[in-house]
Amino acid sequence: MRAIDIRNKYLEFFEEHGHKIIPSAPLIPENDPSVLFTTAGMQPLVPYLLGQKHPKGTRLTDFQKCVRTNDIDEVGDNRHLTYFEMLGNWSLGDYFKEESIKMSFDFLTKCLGIPVEKLFVTCFAGDEDCSKDTVSENTWKEVGIPEDHIFFFGKEENWWIAGEEGPCGPDTEMFYDTGKSKCSEKCDPHCDCGKYVEIWNNVFMEFFKDKNGYTKLKQKNVDTGLGLERMTMLLQGKSTPFDTELFLPIMTKLENLQKIDSIESRRIVAEHLRSSIMIISDGGRPSNVDRGYVLRRLIRRMVRHMNKLQIDLDNLPNLIELNIDTLKEMYPELDKNREVIKQVILEEKNKFIKTLSNGEKEFIKQIDKLKEKNLDKISGDIVFKLYDTYGFPPEVTKDLADENNMKVDMQEFKKLFEEHQEKSRAGSEQKFKGGLAEQNEKTIAYHTATHLLNAALKQVIGKDSHQRGSNITVDRMRFDFNCDHKLTDEEKNKIEELVNKWIKEGIPVTKEEMKKEDAIASGAECMFIEKYPDIVTVYSIGNISKELCGGPHVNNTNELGRFKIKKEEASSSGVRRIKAVLINE
Ligand code: ALA
Repeated sequence: MRAIDIRNKYLEFFEEHGHKIIPSAPLIPENDPSVLFTTAGMQPLVPYLLGQKHPKGTRLTDFQKCVRTNDIDEVGDNRHLTYFEMLGNWSLGDYFKEESIKMSFDFLTKCLGIPVEKLFVTCFAGDEDCSKDTVSENTWKEVGIPEDHIFFFGKEENWWIAGEEGPCGPDTEMFYDTGKSKCSEKCDPHCDCGKYVEIWNNVFMEFFKDKNGYTKLKQKNVDTGLGLERMTMLLQGKSTPFDTELFLPIMTKLENLQKIDSIESRRIVAEHLRSSIMIISDGGRPSNVDRGYVLRRLIRRMVRHMNKLQIDLDNLPNLIELNIDTLKEMYPELDKNREVIKQVILEEKNKFIKTLSNGEKEFIKQIDKLKEKNLDKISGDIVFKLYDTYGFPPEVTKDLADENNMKVDMQEFKKLFEEHQEKSRAGSEQKFKGGLAEQNEKTIAYHTATHLLNAALKQVIGKDSHQRGSNITVDRMRFDFNCDHKLTDEEKNKIEELVNKWIKEGIPVTKEEMKKEDAIASGAECMFIEKYPDIVTVYSIGNISKELCGGPHVNNTNELGRFKIKKEEASSSGVRRIKAVLINE
């Protein structure tokens, strides 16, 4: 059975069981700047899981395009993918565990024809937040799963939440036994030796988690996710997704073109090309920050591995065409976006090859130096220099290091990279503040609130607390600052109280222009001094705050509404992040 047939059977099955088919949301989430990509089918459905009525009712099903990037550097092995398709079905306060499990079982055994003895399942073992899931256990037994195919695990395996906060709950997972022998006595469904492959996850979402712990949701939901590539591979008796029709044409083509053989490199090229195509088709473009940087990394790493296979880069347009042709039946939008996809990938390749060979020379120079000193670890500094000067994504440096039996200090690189990203953000905020981007009442108010928060932090945390980054949308402000500890509730209350006191006092906000040196000498706060011109604008809020800033700001603090901290968390080492809102009352 081909992937598209499995997808169609799935949607048909759930439609027959009262579900309405909804379209896949784009890979780039709408209205949610807090996540890079859509990572699960439930993500676009969060408001409905929380209780909002969905126009299509309480039973939904879809296929969802997903990108997960935490395992980017694992791609090349036999199973990791950055892009994948998730088939899902949802109950929004409709059916719960029993019906969900029975439908999954019927779909797997009757529609896909998987023999019962191939199926293993896991259920939640129970803890102080939620009791053992005996309902799932009994339902699995009732449909015919033998007792010794049912396993129990705690939150680390059988509890699902997207990130740190949100709707969540215990889950029951289904596994396919590939028939390989057990790797050890202890081998069980969650062992990653490859004997058992996870195929489907049914989450029973009846909880909501926030920083204070778990509360019950208004309704009991079911959220499921079935990985299409894996299912396709298993049903076709293949041992990797790269051996299915989704990747075979490109894998074969790469094999024909290559002058040096490397299965890992062929997989990396095929996988990263597919992900890049999908991301670009949904509007992603390479850049140095956030999701644009993920795309840049995918394209550059692919180019490096084409070089490693000694495939002429002039083949890239044909490889893109071939990949689009392979996928267009499943994703018709690719055909429409064919030209732009080609253009974006080729432009990015051209940018990268300008520096690629010099970067490789620099890499060799650096590791020769280390080898002379008998060192086998490349420092974060060097990884950063290769990134900053030669445009080498860290994975590319890591690949090169692996090839030379060297290790890399990724921790240190991450730190340097994050500092650098904050700077580029500050740069683009400057542009924003300078009026290039659209301003409205809400963002202007948040901007002034940012100055008040900065001032309050100096009073509550200490005067050495400085701004390290900031991001404003119409819905909230985000502010990063240096601080060596998690804020206590008392500190957070004090900060809120101070800001709200200043808002109530109705303090005028004033603006003056002066020489940069004079502004600094007068004690005005400034994040990246070198980014400012010689004559600067300084905004003051009474004697509470004085900052170099392009504005605009409100005229008086009483225009702001009530200030409330929504979240306080670590941003990077020594840097904390506050998300806050202004509530109009
Ligand atoms: N949201 C669940 C998952 O991603 C189904 O596994």
